[in-house]
Amino acid sequence: MSERERWGSRIGLILAMAGNAVGLGNFLRFPVQAAENGGGAFMIPYFIAFLLLGIPLMWIEWSLGRHGGKYNHGSLPGMFDSMWKNPMAKYFGVVGLFASTVIMIYYTYIESWTLGFSIFSITKMYFGIEDFQQMTGFLKSYQGVGEGYFSSGWLAYFILLFTLFLNFWILRKGLSKGIEILAKIGMPLLFLFGALLAVRVLTLGTPDPNFPERNIINGLAFIWNPNFEALADSKVWLASAGQIFFTLSIGMGTLQAYASYLKPKDDIALSGLATSSLNEFAEVVLGGAIAIPVAIAFFGTDLTKEIAAGGSFNLGFVSMPIIFQKLPFGNIMGFLWFFLLFIAGITSSVAMAQPLISFLKEQFDWSHKKATNAIGLLIFVSVHLVVLYFQHGFLDEMDYWGGTFALIIIATMEVVIFAWIWGMDKGWAELNSGADIKIPKVFYYIIKYVTPLYLFFILIFWTYQQAIPTLLMEGANPESVPYMWLARIFMILLFVGLTVLVYFAWKRNGHKYKYDN
Ligand code: ALA
Repeated sequence: MSERERWGSRIGLILAMAGNAVGLGNFLRFPVQAAENGGGAFMIPYFIAFLLLGIPLMWIEWSLGRHGGKYNHGSLPGMFDSMWKNPMAKYFGVVGLFASTVIMIYYTYIESWTLGFSIFSITKMYFGIEDFQQMTGFLKSYQGVGEGYFSSGWLAYFILLFTLFLNFWILRKGLSKGIEILAKIGMPLLFLFGALLAVRVLTLGTPDPNFPERNIINGLAFIWNPNFEALADSKVWLASAGQIFFTLSIGMGTLQAYASYLKPKDDIALSGLATSSLNEFAEVVLGGAIAIPVAIAFFGTDLTKEIAAGGSFNLGFVSMPIIFQKLPFGNIMGFLWFFLLFIAGITSSVAMAQPLISFLKEQFDWSHKKATNAIGLLIFVSVHLVVLYFQHGFLDEMDYWGGTFALIIIATMEVVIFAWIWGMDKGWAELNSGADIKIPKVFYYIIKYVTPLYLFFILIFWTYQQAIPTLLMEGANPESVPYMWLARIFMILLFVGLTVLVYFAWKRNGHKYKYDN
């Protein structure tokens, strides 16, 4: 067995982990979720989910990862196998390889738009388009689903190829020379850009004196005035839990993969907490201070809610470009915003390739180059489906099953395997081994009882309220149905393919006799 790669430094690891977590979810998804779910009403269950699901699962995933790394396992099939002596354990882990790969396929596509829009901002390409409809038209034309501003889809395609190239160029360089360096440069820049934008937004006051109620104070109040009435609505609880998963990268297999490159005695308790805190700072303080308050200051609360409800990308890609045109140095502000998104995106998307790269290297003795190339090819081919059938909901279908539902399933399996099958005493010892902080004992009980119960409730409500109607395609546009099926068939094939790989890997390596716990 060749020597396992390692992180170059502790700060590099933390920044890489924060880069993994801080992503488009913090700056694009969070504002939309908050606006759609009533602002202040959303934040209470959000913080509860952070405390009872986010932090515990972050620690569980770091523990799974570092423990798996001892046996040269960087992905969930091996991690589960090392904790649960059951021949099925490794197959449960397939969902981890599946989710990260599915998310990477559509995530890199959205990431490429942010790069495109960075260029369009600095060059003032969309300047002059000042109303919603036209700006939506600009975005659609870029996405290749509407006529108008772009005569063809080649520019968007080229930018997508460049984005993919950049991702795999970094990945080819490996952990400490690629991902870690990217994070060391990218993350400070991201925080700097975020802080500059937040300060600019917070000093806007009342942009139009004719509409005194449209101001920054009301924008902030929308997010921060708690609304206890909405707590009776299970939809808000599901949405907040879903956001916590996506934003922290929980249930994706990527945090575990990164943690598998730790040494057995490296701290995970403090590092896991630091990662969660950095992510929440980026999301709540920076993410919460930009897109929503600025939209409310310019358009008012009702219209902002409408914009958010009109489409997942409207706040980020339609309302922001309109606002930038009203600000001094708007092109620079626009660049800061979209390039911040791009950095957030790329530091997350490189993480999404890692579980499968680790898997192929460890189980089939592939070289780093060969494994990276193989995944590059897989993503390159698959992303075409997302681009071509974007308007028919292909991306949304992947986001629902791979980027939302799978995360809850994985998190549930993880907590059960960690706290109940492997055993909470062993789990607690693993988490505290090498720890640089003392984790309050109450988390022992939270991890053992509260997190699994919380997850079961979510799973039941989610399945009943959302997964079944989504599965039956209730309310779907009939024209899109065949493409949504295509997305499902694609995902099923991917899942089956990964399962077969796991089967052959275990046949080849016979891992089950090698664990000493
Ligand atoms: N956690 C990453 C994000 O927020 C995936 O976008």
